[in-house]
Amino acid sequence: MTDNTKALAPKAKATRILRPSRRTVLTGLGAAATLPLLGRFNIVRAQGSPLKVGLMLPYSGTFAQLGENITAAFELLIAQKGGTLGGRALEIIKLDDESNPAKGPENMKRLVDRDMVDVVVGTVHSGVLMGMLQVARESGTLLIIPNAGAGAATGAQCAPNVFRSSFSNWQPAYGCGRIAADAGYKKLAYVTWDYAAGKESAAGFEQGAKEKGAEVVQVLTVPFPETNFQPVLAQLPGLGVDAVGAFYAGGGAVQFVKDYAAAGLKDKLPLIASGFVTDGTLGALGGVADGLVTGLHYADGLDTPTDNAFRAAFKEKAGREADVYAVQGYDAAQLLAVGLEAVQGDFDQTDALHKAIASAKLDSPRGPMTLSPSHNPVHNIYRRVVRDGKNMVDGVAVEALADPGVGCTMT
Ligand code: PHB
Repeated sequence: MTDNTKALAPKAKATRILRPSRRTVLTGLGAAATLPLLGRFNIVRAQGSPLKVGLMLPYSGTFAQLGENITAAFELLIAQKGGTLGGRALEIIKLDDESNPAKGPENMKRLVDRDMVDVVVGTVHSGVLMGMLQVARESGTLLIIPNAGAGAATGAQCAPNVFRSSFSNWQPAYGCGRIAADAGYKKLAYVTWDYAAGKESAAGFEQGAKEKGAEVVQVLTVPFPETNFQPVLAQLPGLGVDAVGAFYAGGGAVQFVKDYAAAGLKDKLPLIASGFVTDGTLGALGGVADGLVTGLHYADGLDTPTDNAFRAAFKEKAGREADVYAVQGYDAAQLLAVGLEAVQGDFDQTDALHKAIASAKLDSPRGPMTLSPSHNPVHNIYRRVVRDGKNMVDGVAVEALADPGVGCTMT
C-alpha cells in the first residue's frame, strides 16, 4: 500500500500542507462537546485552504497502469487550469486500493475520516467501488468515479453526491452486442472475469445483441484476477457460436488476447469485446491484436481539435499515449472544475456544486459528454478496429448512449 501525498498548486509542493482539521472548525459555542453527534454538514470549512482530493485507485496489480493514467490526466487538467479550480488550490492524497474489494470500505473511510478529504476520485474495480459507495452515501463526501462501471453507482445506489466520468459496464457491452449482431452473427458466447463488471458486461452484450436479433448461448467465466484462460478457451469451439464477446482489462486483457490468438481462435471465432481489452494494452500485445473489432466510448483517430490537444498534452506530461483511462481521469477533473467554478471555490455550497456538476456539458476528448439524471455519462459508443497498433475509430455504433439508470431515485 502506498500513500503518496502531493500538493498541487498554485506552486506544486512536495509535502503535505498543514492546516487545521476541518473538524476543529465548528459552528456555534460549545460545538466541540457535541462533536460525536455532528455530521460533516455542521462543519464550516476554511475556504482559503486547499481542497483535499483523495485519489483512491489501483497503483499495483493487474489494473495498476489504469490507475496511473487516470492520475496523470487528472493532474494534467489541474495543471492546465494553473493549479486551481474555481480559485481553489488542491491538495492530492493518493491511496493504492490494490483492486481489493475486501479493503474498499476501510480504505475509503481512511480517506474520509483520517485524511479528511473533501472529494474522493475513485476507483477502477467495480467490487471496490461498491464498498466506497456505502461510505460516500453515509458521509455525504463528493465521489467522482473515473472508471469502475458498477451499475448500482448510477442505478439503485445513486446519490446526489456521486458522479461518474467514465461509463456503466452496461454501456460499451451493449454497444458491442449491437456491433456483433449488425455484423450478421446470430449465435454468440461471452467470456469474462467472474465479478460485477464481467456479469454486467455480459448482460449488456446480451441485450444489445438480442435487440438486433442475435442470441448469447453461453457465458463463460474465470475468477478475477486469474489469467488461466485455457479451460474457457477450450470450450468455445464446441459451442457452435459464430462470434465471441468479452470483457477483460489491464494486464489480464493482454494475456487473454494473446491466449485467444495462440489457441487458433482469432481467425475462426471473431472476438467483439468491450474496448478495454485493447485500450492501453496494444504496446504489450504487438501485432497479435491486429484486426480486432471492439466497442468503446473512446477511440484513436477521432481527430478533433479537443482530442488532438489532449493527446499531445498527455504525451508530453506522461511520456506515453493517452487511452480511455486517461480520458476518464481528465473528465473527472473537468467535472470537479465545473462544480468548483460554479461556486467560485466555495465547497460549502453543496447543492449548487452538485447541481452544476449534474448539468455539466463537457467538451471531452471522447466527444460531447453530458450526465444522465442518475449522474452517468451520456456519450457515443464507437466501433473500433485495431490497425497499426491503434484502436482506430470505424464509426459510431450507438450515438449518445445513456445508461437506463434502473432503480435510481435521487433523494
Ligand atoms: C470495473 O471493474 O468496473 C472495470 C475494471 C476495468 C475496466 C473496466 C471496468 O477496464
